[in-house]
Amino acid sequence: MYIKELYLNNFRNYEEQKIEFNNNINVLFGNNAQGKTNIVEAIYLCAYGKSFRAKKDNELINFKKDCSSIEIIYKKNDRSGKIKVDINDKKTFYLNEIKQKKISDVIGKINVVIFTPEDIDIIKEGPSKRRKFIDMLISSLRPNYIHLLNSYNKSLEQRNNYLRQIKIENKKVEMLDIWDEQLASYSYKIYEYRKMFIEKIEENINVFHKLITKSGKEDIKIKYISNSKEEKTFLDNLIKTRELDIKRGYTATGIHRDDFIIYINDRPVSIFGSQGQQRTMVLTLKLCELQIIKDEINDTPILLLDDFMSELDENRRKNFFENIKDNQVIITCTDEIDIKNNAKFYIENGICNKL
Ligand SMILES: Nc1ncnc2c1ncn2[C@@H]1O[C@H](COP(=O)(O)OP(=O)(O)O)[C@@H](O)[C@H]1O
Ligand SMILES: [Mg+2]
Repeated sequence: MYIKELYLNNFRNYEEQKIEFNNNINVLFGNNAQGKTNIVEAIYLCAYGKSFRAKKDNELINFKKDCSSIEIIYKKNDRSGKIKVDINDKKTFYLNEIKQKKISDVIGKINVVIFTPEDIDIIKEGPSKRRKFIDMLISSLRPNYIHLLNSYNKSLEQRNNYLRQIKIENKKVEMLDIWDEQLASYSYKIYEYRKMFIEKIEENINVFHKLITKSGKEDIKIKYISNSKEEKTFLDNLIKTRELDIKRGYTATGIHRDDFIIYINDRPVSIFGSQGQQRTMVLTLKLCELQIIKDEINDTPILLLDDFMSELDENRRKNFFENIKDNQVIITCTDEIDIKNNAKFYIENGICNKL
């Protein structure tokens, strides 16, 4: 799939901007703080329903204005589509001119894989970054998963509130049964999804890692860490930790603590991997993501590479691009570069000009 046209209206430092992309490689270059990532952010927002960096939606609106909009015309499975989002106090999405009731109705209509320098955190930082990675991937392909996650989080919050009420107001402990059963049921379903997608990564991870490193010396494993594997044990675990949970006032076990570990030659790359190995591993994960989405949607997802050139040495970069043949790529960098027959855009102070 690919984006044909992007319109920005009062989005970040843009006022009125139209960009026509080609269906292969698009290089967006310019100095720092000119508006390159803002373009990537606008596309991401239309794909996932929210920004990857703004805490509040009104940050997205041009300082001098009070509302903003983004429009994307795309082609997927040989059919054209249009996504529009209006941003003011809230976001309103339109799909082919029809207003969408829920953000989840829009997620996954355009499929993008994003790679930013901060993605190294998926490997380096704590489990929440890894959960976010896997959750976003699943959400973009299975709308039902978003509802499951929302339901789980709501039940978790209610259970936590009730735990504090037991402690402070001496409420009945047995009432926890309701929350525990609900949580266990959602947990199991979420667990199944995560397990399935981590298995899909597992199927691809060695192949892609070798394609980037061009070396067969490193064996990669990925392991899903969850506190249970069955609906019944999810429930048993909640009951087992009840007393402790009441003391603490929150739920200490459950799929909100899930994680996955990646190993190079049986050693966790998060602990023992060099900076280079960690960077390569993120890229490997992204290639896996690209493949998984491709298999699911029967079309090629769009690849957004923000500040990509700072990421890898030249060889690995070359190996990476050898694997990106049919995808539309939108890549930002500070220096003008040439990759195959790319389209080039120069960005300066919120204006994007095709060269
Ligand atoms: N809501 C906004 N209104 C106007 N300008 C903004 C807004 N948010 C960010 N900017 C400006 O956008 C620029 C940063 O854009 P960005 O795309 O991150 O730069 P880069 O080209 O380095 O990727 C900065 O100059 C910042 O002041
Ligand atoms: Mg940037």
